[in-house]
Amino acid sequence: MDKKTIRDIDIKGRRILVRVDFNVPLDIKTGAITDDSRIQAALPTIKYLIDHNAKVILCSHLGRPDGKAVEGLRMAPIAQRLSRLIEAPVVTVPDCIGQEVEKAANSLRDGQVLFLENVRFHPEEKENDTKFAQALAKLAEVYVNDAFGTAHRAHASTVGVTKYLPAVAGFLMEKELTVLSGILNNPAHPFVALLGGAKVSDKIGLIQNVLAKVDLLLIGGGMAATFLKVQGHEVGLSPVEEEKQDIAQKLLEDASHNGVSLLLPVDVMIAGSISGESAGVVVDIRDIARDKYIVDIGPRTISLFSQKIKGCRTVFWNGPMGVYEILQFASGTKALVNLLAGLEATTIIGGGSTAEIVEEMNLSDKMTHVSTGGGASLKFLEGKILPGVAALLDK
Ligand code: 3PG
Ligand code: MG
Repeated sequence: MDKKTIRDIDIKGRRILVRVDFNVPLDIKTGAITDDSRIQAALPTIKYLIDHNAKVILCSHLGRPDGKAVEGLRMAPIAQRLSRLIEAPVVTVPDCIGQEVEKAANSLRDGQVLFLENVRFHPEEKENDTKFAQALAKLAEVYVNDAFGTAHRAHASTVGVTKYLPAVAGFLMEKELTVLSGILNNPAHPFVALLGGAKVSDKIGLIQNVLAKVDLLLIGGGMAATFLKVQGHEVGLSPVEEEKQDIAQKLLEDASHNGVSLLLPVDVMIAGSISGESAGVVVDIRDIARDKYIVDIGPRTISLFSQKIKGCRTVFWNGPMGVYEILQFASGTKALVNLLAGLEATTIIGGGSTAEIVEEMNLSDKMTHVSTGGGASLKFLEGKILPGVAALLDK
């Protein structure tokens, strides 16, 4: 990686502002953390700083509070979880800037940890406001960005603050960039990308960028409907992005020009409604009824995709194959998670919902890498420069 990391800078006894992405999923009813992978993933950086006698000042956003304090999006429960994981106290404060916070930061002893309140309680965070960035910078002597999941956002705590402090990457940031640039620049072939999720529009940039790199592209999930429609199939009530049909057509052509085999489902599960009460029926893609929704890939597609994936040495996956939140429509997604977990190949899981499914199935440690960035990993694989990364010091 061409950016400086915490290994390259003097941290002993210094106040270090660490931007983490602890925007973890919470249970809607109880507010409990349902997946703490993002906290776990930042532990190597936090432990390293503690072990090297730094004064650690963590900051993150949680949810989208829209520039005001929202009780359910306070950082205290996250700080508690962190405290349990590092087996050390984590001091919290009611804000992320201001005199009281400065006092807490200045009274930290070597190896102590302070956790600031949700940075998005201030509208200035997302506006990348100069004064707000300066107020954050005032708390510390060094800035570390370990928030890969937020690196695609040019906010005050990811970009603005780097104007006022020496800014380096943490270990999670380093690992994400190394693994993801590895599959872009130097993948072991054959290389397959397995893409799903609701919308084609979310994945166009990614497909365009990887067409020159992959050998095989497998498409399932909601986004397959737009491609199937372009190929002349009836897709029933499945949402189709009409305005993206030309692009889908072009992607099919580009794949063929690039010698990439792009495969779509050969059978699907359809249902009368997208709800837990509705039972699914498997049909050939030529037999999708007009009054039904596509809700999953079918068993023949699972075997076809599995057989293709088994022949590959690098697998990248982003996006579920069906409506996985509903048990009876989750088979395609689960079958492929299980398949990937048993492969010898390099398996990289894009972040967001795909990562949450793998974690829910307790199979994260069977994958080569599960990214902590949803939007960020997509942007990166589109070939875009992430502002939070660009702002860090070059080696
Ligand atoms: C995410 O989960 O996508 C990141 O934490 C960034 O959050 P955002 O999408 O609300 O900017
Ligand atoms: Mg997001």
